[in-house]
Amino acid sequence: MSQARLKIEAARAALEYVESGMVLGMGTGSTVNAFIDELISSGRSLAGAVSSSEATTGKLREAGIEVLDLNHTGGLELYIDGADEVDAHRRLIKGGGGALTREKVIAEASRRFVCIVDESKCVNVLGDFPLPVEVVPLARALVARKLVGLGGRPELRNDFVTDNGNLILDVRKLDLVDPVAVEGEINQIPGVVTNGLFARRPADLVLVAGERGVERRGRL
Ligand code: 5RP
Repeated sequence: MSQARLKIEAARAALEYVESGMVLGMGTGSTVNAFIDELISSGRSLAGAVSSSEATTGKLREAGIEVLDLNHTGGLELYIDGADEVDAHRRLIKGGGGALTREKVIAEASRRFVCIVDESKCVNVLGDFPLPVEVVPLARALVARKLVGLGGRPELRNDFVTDNGNLILDVRKLDLVDPVAVEGEINQIPGVVTNGLFARRPADLVLVAGERGVERRGRL
C-alpha cells in the first residue's frame, strides 16, 4: 500500500472518535488533509474547528467547516493531528510543516489528542527527523549557538516564515533519549517560541496505519 493510502487509513480510523456537533482541534499536513476529506465523506457535521495553520484553515473553509478562535471556544474535547516521528510512549516530533507552535497550543488546550500516522513515522528513539525549533527572527543566531552548545546541528529552513512571522531552525544530532528534558531545555532559550517535541504533552492515542491494518497505541 502506498504511504498516501496508509495516511487515508489512519485518518479514517480517527472518525470513530468524532461525533456530529463537536468542535475539533485540527492539526496540519497531508494526513490531516486526508482526515478532513474523510470527515466530509462520512457525513458528520461539526459545530466548527480550531485550526493550527493558515493551510488547514483554507482546507477547512473549502470543506464548509467554520473555523473558530481558540480564545472563544475555550478547552476542546478532541485534537486530531499527524506527526513526523512517534515513539512507543506516544511522544512525537512535529513541525515538518512548520505549524508546531499553534499545534502545541491546541494540543495543550485539548482533553484528548489523537495522532494519525502511517507506519513509516514510528521509531525507537526520536531524532532521526531534524527537530524543528521556531525562533523569533532577532534571536536566530543566538538560538543556533545555544543549540550547538546542546550538541545539535541547527540549519535555518530556507525561504520559510511561519504563520506567526518567525523562522524555523531544523536541528540534527540532538540526543533525544530523554525528550521531556530536552523539550524543556530548548524552550528555556530566550527567543525560542517553541520546539517540535511533544513529550510533556504526548498523544493520548496514536493510530498507526500499516500493511496489516491500523494499530492503536494508547487509549482515550
Ligand atoms: C506539521 C506537522 C505534521 O503533522 C507533520 O509534518 C506530518 O505531516 P504529514 O501528515 O504531511 O506527514 O507537524 O507542522
